[in-house]
Amino acid sequence: MNKTLDQVLSEIATIRQSALADLGNAESNEQIESWRIKYLGRKDGQITNIMRSLSNLNNEDRPTVGATANELKNVLEVALDEKINAKDHSKNADDTIPSLDISLPGQKPVIGRLHPITQVVREICSVFESMGFQVVEGPEVEWDLYNFEMLNIPKGHPARDAWDTLWINYTDDNHQTPMLMRTHTSPMQARVMENSEPPVRVLVPGKCYRYEATDATHEWHFYQIEGLAVDKGISFANLKGTLYHFAKQLFGSERKIRFRCDYFPFVEPGVDMSIDCFNCSSSNLGPQNDCRICRGSGWIEILGAGMVHPQVLENVGYDSSIYTGFAFGMGPERIAMLKYGIQDIRLFYENDMRFLKQF
Ligand code: FA5
Repeated sequence: MNKTLDQVLSEIATIRQSALADLGNAESNEQIESWRIKYLGRKDGQITNIMRSLSNLNNEDRPTVGATANELKNVLEVALDEKINAKDHSKNADDTIPSLDISLPGQKPVIGRLHPITQVVREICSVFESMGFQVVEGPEVEWDLYNFEMLNIPKGHPARDAWDTLWINYTDDNHQTPMLMRTHTSPMQARVMENSEPPVRVLVPGKCYRYEATDATHEWHFYQIEGLAVDKGISFANLKGTLYHFAKQLFGSERKIRFRCDYFPFVEPGVDMSIDCFNCSSSNLGPQNDCRICRGSGWIEILGAGMVHPQVLENVGYDSSIYTGFAFGMGPERIAMLKYGIQDIRLFYENDMRFLKQF
């Protein structure tokens, strides 16, 4: 027989009374869970059963009963949440029951990694360290004196145009020369030699800055690694042997290396060294005119080098009739591009995690 509206409403009122009373008496987790199943359980909970029985009611009574049962369901759910929260707080305050569940799977911490350029700089340093070079660092803000003048590039020298310089509006009484963001790591040649006697074998990694338009192989801020070796009897053969060994260690013996004459005022003779373009040179067709990395030459320049100019040795107080030396300055971004086949140097400094995570 179908129940009347009054009967169903009084049944809901009874459920409300007993449910709230039972919840008040529930102490343990198990008791709270049994309470939930008894009143709110999806299979046979008392509220669920009332909802199910709505179809037995006539059309006029159904909305009233549905709304009353729903309101009770909300009240009971809120009361249950409050009960659980209150229990958790008292547990922590009391501190007798540990709140850590060691049976749960752990959360993996996010571990950072070294930037790809840092990795390459370290790899290059370790190759040269194994040949007896010592790693030193120098200032990124430099005096015109060290960046240019000590390196045989006096004021007005046309070679200054090769380094588009970011100048800093500052001079001081000691140096009397303008300050700038160093355009290369070569100023450290003069700084190191000024402060030490031969033999010298140093490697100088560091940041450089140039007022330069960017493209696939040029950044306005980039790293260089300077190398300098000065001693009695150092020859161009030593320079070539050192750089060949470095290139073999870094790229393997399959890659091609090219030396060409180049001009830097602080070396004589001067050269640049290139590696065959990873993008187009290894294809069957050979270098491609539309290659945006090497622009069809088939080569990517990675460093400038040469025998230290006698004038530079004299500038720092070395006797150029006794000592000779070689120096080089390489670009680790270009080297990383060759090593990993990266098409655009600007990717290194965009801070895009999708790119950086690959290294
Ligand atoms: C120099 O800076 C010389 N100081 C190198 C040198 C040292 C020559 C010692 C002789 C003796 P250059 O401007 O060519 O030279 O730069 C050297 C290397 O730095 C380049 O081969 C390239 O690998 C890298 N480089 C230069 N400009 C940029 C740039 N804008 N972005 C990225 N890498 C660059």
